[in-house]
Amino acid sequence: MRLSAVSSMMVLGGAVLCLAACQPKPTAAPGALLGWAYPQGQKSNLPPYPTGPQHIPGSTVTYTGEALNKGAGPPDWFPDSHPPAPEVVAQGRKGLMACAECHQIGGGGSLGTPNLAGLSEEYIVQQVREFREGRRTSWRANWPTNQDMIKVAKTVTDEELAAAAAYYAALPYKPRVRVVEGTTAPATKPNYYGWLDLDPDKPDQPLNGQVIEVAEDWPRMLLADPNAVIVVHAPVGSTARGEALAKSGGPGGQVCAACHGESLRGSPVAPPLAGRSAAYLARQLLDIKTGARSGPSVSQMQGPANGLSDEQIRDLAVYAASLRP
Ligand code: HEC
Ligand code: HEC
Repeated sequence: MRLSAVSSMMVLGGAVLCLAACQPKPTAAPGALLGWAYPQGQKSNLPPYPTGPQHIPGSTVTYTGEALNKGAGPPDWFPDSHPPAPEVVAQGRKGLMACAECHQIGGGGSLGTPNLAGLSEEYIVQQVREFREGRRTSWRANWPTNQDMIKVAKTVTDEELAAAAAYYAALPYKPRVRVVEGTTAPATKPNYYGWLDLDPDKPDQPLNGQVIEVAEDWPRMLLADPNAVIVVHAPVGSTARGEALAKSGGPGGQVCAACHGESLRGSPVAPPLAGRSAAYLARQLLDIKTGARSGPSVSQMQGPANGLSDEQIRDLAVYAASLRP
């Protein structure tokens, strides 16, 4: 009570001083400049799903587009590259979509979904519980991809979750994110799931401080090719500014590597950030800062996230995405 009286007096005093001495700048709401991290596409007028035999580079496996589109389960293009996957990962069951439908069988994730390979077993279990119990929602109300994961978390049993976590935690993470700095990015158009695809018929677009995360080769991304590259088009200087912020700790003053490990590769106390999608990392920083992601597990991360501006979130996300674990 007394504390809040003191701070409102300070605010009043500040406002009076400011009226006399300066023009207060309007401050944007948190997240106002981070729309790029939430691409959302139309559901109609999408290009037809591929039909006939489908291949990806380096794999001898063939699937037909029809089978992939009709829920034959997630593709497994490199079956020798991972141990046998538990049923919850590879097939799912009635009412529960297989984890690999969104996170891939090799755990590499996709444009709109994070990688699980490279995360620890405990962290995977903990996060699914956070989704289930309402402590991991999205700053952007009803963001559909976050809602999808919440639905899974509420349906999966603890036994299934333990099997999925053990499986994914044992797989190596092979990043396929490439950061390209510039003042413009190629033109894009929304494709399936709202993910961005290149639009070669249109001229380049100015970045204007935004980031554009796009599939380098859309058909490969759609077919869940684990080597399909994600290109992060970012404003000039964002990687260097992000590096300086990470190393100074930014407004919170806590160096990111102190918890996330050298080169942000992850440590026993905090998950890896290196080489992950910039849009994913930016969403998480905003969710933590705004309290959409809350609860005891994330409490250590609140100090570092609280004072970050949208631009700082962008730069930190781009820097982390540019690192190789
Ligand atoms: C329909 C798509 C979909 C399915 C199926 C799915 N997920 Fe997710 N998952 C997501 C999305 C999207 C996110 C990111 C949500 C966000 O941005 O907050 C996510 C996030 C996660 C995270 C957090 C990762 C991190 O770095 O913090 C974990 C762990 C996870 N999922 C585990 C699983 C497991 C285990 C399964 C299977 C039982 C599964 N998911 C099935 C879409 C899915
Ligand atoms: C005091 C330790 C600590 C420091 C310092 C710290 N973090 Fe974290 N961070 C954590 C922990 C712990 C988590 C996992 C939270 C959870 O379990 O929900 C986390 C989670 C995150 C996530 C979400 C990852 C995911 O998989 O969803 C991001 C992004 C992140 N931190 C970025 C940063 C950045 C950028 C900095 C520096 C400005 C930083 N952190 C500094 C402890 C820390």
